[in-house]
Amino acid sequence: MRIGAALLLVSGLAGSAAGDPATAVYNHACSWCHGKDGRGDGPAAFSINKYRSPRPRDFTRGRFKLRSTPSGQLPTDDDLLRTVERGIPGYMPSFRSLTTGERQLAVVAVKRFYPGFESAQPAPVTIAEAPELNAAAAARGRRVYEEAGCAACHGDRGRGDGTSANALRDDVGLPIRPADLRYPRRFKGGSAPDDIYRTLVTGLDGTPMPSYAAAIEDPHALWDLVAYVRSLKRR
Ligand code: HEC
Ligand code: HEC
Repeated sequence: MRIGAALLLVSGLAGSAAGDPATAVYNHACSWCHGKDGRGDGPAAFSINKYRSPRPRDFTRGRFKLRSTPSGQLPTDDDLLRTVERGIPGYMPSFRSLTTGERQLAVVAVKRFYPGFESAQPAPVTIAEAPELNAAAAARGRRVYEEAGCAACHGDRGRGDGTSANALRDDVGLPIRPADLRYPRRFKGGSAPDDIYRTLVTGLDGTPMPSYAAAIEDPHALWDLVAYVRSLKRR
């Protein structure tokens, strides 16, 4: 506690009226969107999105998109730290301006909103070593894309305009759009080859974007798919 309090003093957050350092950081940096009680209903929440997805996450539901863990599991501390550090393109700012200690305290605060974190032992999925992601791999990946049914949501050319694109909803019932795969910089989980591979294995929980861990077991096929997704990037 003392160390945390000193840390807050140094960074100028000491004025926040809150009992403990994690709550102080959270109230200062996160609550205007995520709400004092973590329910995703802060004063700025509705200016982000009212009638469609995503809204600021309701942490009390214990559902997270950005994880290194299998679908249905909670994220690791490192996953949450990564989200705080990077932000979410288009929806949540990066908090690199906070100190490392403050970012860790923010993670502590987020986890407190969902009791499941107390006993959880999330274990990351394995990411097979990447082969060369060349044109041949992308061509094979195109077949995987067709066979796996990605086009139904993401469209034949990855533009986010598949036949079911307009009918999708997230797990709180709000309309949600599939990603336009031509713009990897907007990918929430990152756009490096490892990032896309991880997203395909874990899925984005709480959204229609499923995990392909069971449907595409062969790591080679997954890497081919990564190569294809990367080939869609608009130049
Ligand atoms: C400007 C509004 C805003 C602020 C400020 C903000 N967030 Fe977010 N946050 C969002 C939105 C919107 C989402 C949902 C994005 C999505 O689902 O695509 C989100 C999602 C998240 C998620 C869920 C990621 C996942 O895996 O599903 C975490 C964790 C999170 N925020 C933590 C924080 C923390 C910690 C802070 C403060 C340091 C913070 N946020 C500040 C808007 C904000
Ligand atoms: C049932 C609909 C559906 C199917 C099928 C589907 N996706 Fe998605 N996908 C989505 C939605 C919706 C999102 C956006 C989720 C969000 O923004 O929170 C998404 C997001 C993504 C992203 C961006 C991830 C990120 O980090 O933001 C990638 C890449 C992706 N999908 C690739 C694929 C591939 C490849 C396949 C086939 C193997 C596939 N998707 C199948 C609905 C689908």
